[in-house]
Amino acid sequence: MRITDWKEHFARIYANEPDQYQRLVAAEDAYGELAARIEATAERANTIVDIGAGTGRLTVPLCRYGVEVHAVDQAAPMLEVAARRLESSVGTWRLSVGDARELPIPDQWADGAVAGWVYGHFTEWHTDGWRDELAAAIAEMDRVVRPGGTEVVIDTLGTAVAEPGAPNAALAAYHEELERVGFERSVLRTDYRFASVEESIELLDWFFGLGDWARGHNSPLIPEFTGWWERRSS
Ligand SMILES: C[S@@+](CC[C@H](N)C(=O)[O-])C[C@H]1O[C@@H](n2cnc3c(N)ncnc32)[C@H](O)[C@@H]1O
Repeated sequence: MRITDWKEHFARIYANEPDQYQRLVAAEDAYGELAARIEATAERANTIVDIGAGTGRLTVPLCRYGVEVHAVDQAAPMLEVAARRLESSVGTWRLSVGDARELPIPDQWADGAVAGWVYGHFTEWHTDGWRDELAAAIAEMDRVVRPGGTEVVIDTLGTAVAEPGAPNAALAAYHEELERVGFERSVLRTDYRFASVEESIELLDWFFGLGDWARGHNSPLIPEFTGWWERRSS
């Protein structure tokens, strides 16, 4: 599949295909590197805000570790899947439809905040003004986390590539901006391990337009690098 309008592509997925999204992300993190970082973050916090929580990839494990989570996402259909996944979970959570730039959460409510694979979208959705949108979102993150708490931003450093790196120039500038305001980067190896080659072709094509690549690769294990940026709240 050739994807020409990435903005429309992702908006359509988050509005209409949350279950398919969950199938994709459930296959990621073949070696548990991301899971280990989530667990370490949970150990330092009783309360966490999950910004752009989607189908609950971060919310669900954080709850499992006993953290009280307030998850916010602008796409109600994504949160409906998260709610379903949380039904059988222990812990305390709240799910709110809302915007990362105006979180429906009181000042200093949380010990920490995570924003997974969300702020990078600003570079596509606000091509000219993404720096202002990012600054607004980070200011909101800082407002809801108590001073000294943990702030985490997670985003891709490449799918189906041999080395970690920003997928394009705008995302490279976004990563630089995170680091300029004090976030420190670590690189995780979070390969996808699909149930079959056929599933890897189907889901890589659907989300990334990488079906031809996956067909040539002919393995259910797909390389993925993830950036984990972290700082203390001021
Ligand atoms: C790639 S998904 C990531 C979801 C989840 N964090 C995960 O790890 O799978 C991006 C999510 O960010 C949400 N999102 C994008 N812009 C947003 C904004 N300004 N405010 C709140 N949510 C936003 C989308 O609706 C979508 O659910």
